[in-house]
Amino acid sequence: MKRKLIFVTAIMVAIPLYAQADAVSELQAKYQTQSAGPFSAKAGEALWNKKFIDARSGKERNCTVCHTTDLTKAGKHVRTGKVIEPLAPSANPKRLANVEKIEKWFVRNCKWTLGRACSAQEKGDVLAFLKNL
Ligand code: HEC
Repeated sequence: MKRKLIFVTAIMVAIPLYAQADAVSELQAKYQTQSAGPFSAKAGEALWNKKFIDARSGKERNCTVCHTTDLTKAGKHVRTGKVIEPLAPSANPKRLANVEKIEKWFVRNCKWTLGRACSAQEKGDVLAFLKNL
């Protein structure tokens, strides 16, 4: 009985971990076909903290204004005030598990934060940074 429980628990832990590694590697492989790579967690972290000036409002924007600098904690949407669950996969196993979801939010968040789309290199670097948190 106990053994079975341990086995089931192990599977439940392993599946999201596998899915997560999978979605990130799948996307990074795709970015490599767009002549990006190798990817650097350091460069991803630098982009994460980099400040951009919004052309219209003149205000500073960056990834941390919604997700904060401690990615193991929940963030808060700067405009709507809605809680955003932690982005770090260690704190939130649902993160970085779905290719479509990651791509969708890269489109929205890069546009809002940088005022442009992120390059394949930037996206691969950010994933390299986020996946180990
Ligand atoms: C204006 C607020 C805001 C800013 C700024 C922002 N994000 Fe997000 N981000 C969100 C919201 C909202 C979600 C989706 C809600 C959720 O999944 O909890 C999200 C989700 C994501 C996801 C999806 C993760 C997953 O697998 O579930 C990634 C990756 C991400 N953001 C990266 C970034 C990066 C990189 C930046 C900076 C370039 C950034 N975000 C800036 C609000 C923001």
